[in-house]
Amino acid sequence: MAEKQDDIRTRIAADWAESDYYDEAERFTEVFWTPSFVFRPRFEKLDLSNVIELACGRGRHAAQCIDRCGMLSLVDVNRSNIEACRRRFAGHRNVRFLVTPGNSLPDCPDGTFSALYCYDAMVHFELLDIVDYLRETRRVLQPGGRALLHVSNNMSNPGGHYHQNTHWRNFGHVDIVRHLADRLGLSVLEHEVFDWSGAPNLDAVLLLERPGA
Ligand SMILES: C[S@@+](CC[C@H](N)C(=O)[O-])C[C@H]1O[C@@H](n2cnc3c(N)ncnc32)[C@H](O)[C@@H]1O
Repeated sequence: MAEKQDDIRTRIAADWAESDYYDEAERFTEVFWTPSFVFRPRFEKLDLSNVIELACGRGRHAAQCIDRCGMLSLVDVNRSNIEACRRRFAGHRNVRFLVTPGNSLPDCPDGTFSALYCYDAMVHFELLDIVDYLRETRRVLQPGGRALLHVSNNMSNPGGHYHQNTHWRNFGHVDIVRHLADRLGLSVLEHEVFDWSGAPNLDAVLLLERPGA
């Protein structure tokens, strides 16, 4: 049965190998970094000594914070994105570039990262892959390490394809992610639902912590 999960993940990944999205999105990066919206105040609650950005795309978020990070590991399913980041951050010594098969964090040792963040990407992921990434996040975070995740809050179209949904949000819900996080050993410190591009309550952000610091 994992074949279906693998097949859909591969098709979603292919959507983002080459896309006009990357150039366009550079102009809409501020929403993630302005102090007045839901992301930045929570980003400031991360310890940036050893950070993973999951699904980094072409690096627009990394460009905002790389100089504040002790070490930044950029992870993406598409090699084309990782190579673009390699070029973009060629002058930086505190960055690693990692290609994932799409549901794991390879070359990320257990219990060694202070933070992980993921913006504008998990909203498109299959729920089963989010389960896998939550498990991986728990594995790689150090006790007290935190994860800041931007997820879909769309419960329409179960069993459908994400292209059919508003802003390509995959099936998911903040309360499902809260529940999964708890069961996989991550505490939910904060969560908030918000509108995306005029669509009410379409997205959510969660701040998670691996207990035990
Ligand atoms: C909409 S883009 C967002 C990129 C970046 N986070 C940003 O905000 O600019 C979605 C990103 O998710 C990546 N992606 C898609 N499926 C993935 C998966 N299963 N695991 C990791 N990355 C994935 C794509 O390659 C792409 O970089």
